[in-house]
Amino acid sequence: MNINKFMTPEIIFGKDALEQTGESFKRLGANKVLVVSDKGVVEAGWSEKALANIRQAGLDYAEFYQLSTNPKDEEVRNGAAVYINEYCDAVFGLGGGSPMDVAKAVAIIVTNQGNIRDYEGVDQITRPLPPLIMASTTAGSGSEVSQFSVVVDTEKQKKMTIVSKSLVPDIAIVDPQLLMTKDPLLTAATGMDVLTHSIEAYVSIAATPLTDVQAKNAIKLVSEYLRPSVASASNEEAKRAMAMASLQAGLAFSNAILGAIHAMSHAIGGKYALAHGEINAVLLPHVMEYNLIANPKRFRTISELMGTSTSGLTDMEAANTSVQMVRKLLKDIGAPQQFSDLGFQEQDFVVMAEVALEDACMITNPRDLSVEEVVALFKQAL
Ligand SMILES: [Fe+2]
Repeated sequence: MNINKFMTPEIIFGKDALEQTGESFKRLGANKVLVVSDKGVVEAGWSEKALANIRQAGLDYAEFYQLSTNPKDEEVRNGAAVYINEYCDAVFGLGGGSPMDVAKAVAIIVTNQGNIRDYEGVDQITRPLPPLIMASTTAGSGSEVSQFSVVVDTEKQKKMTIVSKSLVPDIAIVDPQLLMTKDPLLTAATGMDVLTHSIEAYVSIAATPLTDVQAKNAIKLVSEYLRPSVASASNEEAKRAMAMASLQAGLAFSNAILGAIHAMSHAIGGKYALAHGEINAVLLPHVMEYNLIANPKRFRTISELMGTSTSGLTDMEAANTSVQMVRKLLKDIGAPQQFSDLGFQEQDFVVMAEVALEDACMITNPRDLSVEEVVALFKQAL
């Protein structure tokens, strides 16, 4: 039996979609919403806009903004305490991956209790979550549509991947206007993440026709619009395209899961306070090259989606071209080329390789890896 499942929230996409927040919570029966966001989003004015909208809908709210870039288990505990002390009954994640992942993790704790570490892995959540709405301000983590939450386990110094259908938000709000306050560095870093999501989901061993259509369109949109999106904060067409790319890459990887790049990136991100998208960008060409022989036809399609003509080339030749195309795109947007650009050292490679091999994302990588092979890939990227 070959069963395909595809999880998706209700999606509200378009300019001014953020103004649907209050009514959306009302429809879900909320009375008091915990708003989880971060300093950058507050400074850009988006949280105040959302709060005003929640007030207009006649609902109450409490706020929680104390988050790190790579959010930690203790921050989840603090957010859950605010939810409980303030008698909230719904959760709103507003921002990039960090606020959205913390919002989801808080929602787990307030109904399932215990420590967020108890829920690491696949399908460990047993009780329903409170109503959840996510609005993404980056393009992006894809957390607004995904069944993932990634939080740092401070004891083990690694990122935990929590995967559960309960984490798919009830409603995803994607307003491309929110991307216009991002600086070029953040636009590039989050765009690298979108590119990695779409490529890993497309070559994942769990890919289905339903995820392929999303992944392929995301690859196409990123290769066409990431450069202009980095170049200009006010390019509406590029922002809209990147918001859609992020959404579609999110739908693809939420259902097809990811691969070795994310598994390795989570291992690094738990130890070093580096941007997730930038770590992915360094790893992406190396892991693609390693994975090519697992499915040359799919990598051939990636070359074509990125605008190369592959006629007359063998599958492996065309597959190799996809790596060149990705390198070129990453270079054009100023992505870091190697770990030394990120101030990164070699001493932890073996430990991080062991952590990476245990990450839930590793299961769907198209080519098997041993500790030695993961270490070799880390070294290549040094
Ligand atoms: Fe990611």
